[in-house]
Amino acid sequence: MPQPLISSRARPLTGTLRIPGDKSISHRSLILGGLSVGETRIEGLLEGEDVLATAAAMRAFGATVEHLGPGSWRVVGRGVGGLDEPADVIDCGNAGTGMRLLMGTAAGQPITTFFTGDGSLRRRPMGRVGAPLAQMGVRIVAREGGRPPLAVTGPEILTPITYTLPVASAQVKSAILLAGLAAPGETTVIEPKWTRDHTETMLRHFGAEVRVEDTAEGRRITVVGEPELTGRPVVVPADPSSAAFPAVAALLVEGSELLLPGVGTNPLRFGLFETLLEMGADIELTNKRIEAGEPVADLVVRHSRLKGIEVPAERAPSMIDEYPILAVAAAHAEGTTIMRGLDELRVKESDRLAATANGMAACGARVEVDGDDLTVHGADNGVAGGTTIPVDLDHRIAMAFLVLGMVSADAVAIDDEAAIATSFPGFRELMNGAGAAIGTGA
Ligand code: S3P
Repeated sequence: MPQPLISSRARPLTGTLRIPGDKSISHRSLILGGLSVGETRIEGLLEGEDVLATAAAMRAFGATVEHLGPGSWRVVGRGVGGLDEPADVIDCGNAGTGMRLLMGTAAGQPITTFFTGDGSLRRRPMGRVGAPLAQMGVRIVAREGGRPPLAVTGPEILTPITYTLPVASAQVKSAILLAGLAAPGETTVIEPKWTRDHTETMLRHFGAEVRVEDTAEGRRITVVGEPELTGRPVVVPADPSSAAFPAVAALLVEGSELLLPGVGTNPLRFGLFETLLEMGADIELTNKRIEAGEPVADLVVRHSRLKGIEVPAERAPSMIDEYPILAVAAAHAEGTTIMRGLDELRVKESDRLAATANGMAACGARVEVDGDDLTVHGADNGVAGGTTIPVDLDHRIAMAFLVLGMVSADAVAIDDEAAIATSFPGFRELMNGAGAAIGTGA
């Protein structure tokens, strides 16, 4: 049964909020732990449904994956080329990242792996991973348009390739690099637009040789195949994509001040915060440090008066999941915010460009979509709210509109809470503990 939630005006948001672990890094730590020899201890793993599906998948490939305590996990891997053929279909749930990275992982062995997912994931294009894998000699049978369910059969020997990404996608890059681990020789991905580099960082952390060169064609990332990966400890930072929701809530709700400790500040992920700072946000980064190769800081976020700006298309890969919540912020800024180059937003857990624009308009904001650009006009008194937003299995749409309800004249509801558990388990309780008023209406 769907569980609707209603978000009404919040009290000032205050306190210290522990944000769950980074989803991207969590998936990668389980996968690389499973491809390593020996033990990998992970602290701060995101225990959201997306990542738990990847944990189950790695078990199905023969790795030992144990839950030791909150956020604390132990993986004993099988080594590159040592995975078993899963005895049943791998269900990635809602997770595009999980499926794409696992397709690359499965491709490195002469086994057949069947993949499926929920209604959202079964609509999403996997051909963008299938095409380069096919060049490496992998056989993929999928539904029309490369959509899941699909089967991946790895060849006896993978062919190393050099591949230029036609879309700015860290998921596609990572799938190729993970497959490249099993190929004899060097596999290179060229990305004309830089995307998050967690896979490269973590591959090195586990002992792979990875070279990165900036060239006229873009960033060239090369992995040397057939390494012996060794289990390593991983500390997962708090997810900046999740921190985005309480951060924007604190900026918008008068009198708020939140401390968000240990948030990942990798520049290839930090576009939203960069944008908010340009808009005049009072966000302080303190206690900056490096954990397991990733930059981290404590964020202090205070209520601020924002002004509209133009967000360039080049910034999109570094904040691709954050546009829905940026649109919420923009509706409360002085002036107009134009977000350019949002084509990739259409193929996320839902068509997020449409979901954001339609939802904002239903709440009374003035928004326009022109091609791949989204314009949001700020309004002095914020927005009216007073409506229910269909979430369509999209966690980020759900949380963005719950934040909108914290500052709109009338409450904003979402039609189903369930999707939030994919990336931010405990969101409602955490936000309510800080001053939000999100309830079931019961
Ligand atoms: C992710 C990359 C992004 C992002 C997704 C996680 C990753 O997707 O939207 O939530 O972990 O590599 P694309 O790289 O396909 O844009």
